[in-house]
Amino acid sequence: MTQYRVLFVCLGNICRSPSAEGVFRETLANAGQEEAVFIESAGTGNWHVGKAPDARAQKAALGRGIDISAQRARQVRARDFEDFDLILAMDHDNLHDLRQAAPASARERIQLFLDFAPELGVSEVPDPYYGGSRGFDDVLDLIEAASAGLLDHIVQTSSD
Ligand code: 4NP
Repeated sequence: MTQYRVLFVCLGNICRSPSAEGVFRETLANAGQEEAVFIESAGTGNWHVGKAPDARAQKAALGRGIDISAQRARQVRARDFEDFDLILAMDHDNLHDLRQAAPASARERIQLFLDFAPELGVSEVPDPYYGGSRGFDDVLDLIEAASAGLLDHIVQTSSD
C-alpha cells in the first residue's frame, strides 16, 4: 500500500509543527493506522535547524503521554513540494511563505492545518514561543482537534 505523506510546517520547527507531528503520530497509532501515513515536520526558517523541540513543547506533549524529544528541527526544502501529499501550515504567514516557495503544481497541496477542524472557528495555531506555558497546552488542544479531522480526511481519501 502506498503511504500517504503529510508534512507539518511552522516557523521554527521547534514548537508547533513538532507537536503536530507527535500528536498526529499518536492519533494514527490509536486508530491502528500508523503504517498508513508517513509524517514529518519542518520550519520555514532556519534558526533552529538540528535542535530538539523547545523544552516547553516537550513538557506539554509529555503531559499528554506524547514524547517528542527525539525530533530534530529542519528547514523546508524544495523536494518537500514533490514528496508530500499534504503540506500543512500552522498559520497564515507559514501558508504564504510556503505558497511563495512552491512550484505552481504543488500549491493546492498546501493548506492550513486547522482547515481540518472547522468546528473550532479558528484558522491559525498561534505561535507560543514568546508566550507562557499555557500557550503550549492551547496549541495542543487545537492540534488534537485538527488531527482527528485530518485522520478522517485521509481515511476517506484513501478509500475512494
Ligand atoms: P514554532 O515557534 O514556529 O512553532 O517552532 C517558534 C520558534 C522559534 C521562533 C519563532 C517561533 N523564533 O523566532 O526563534
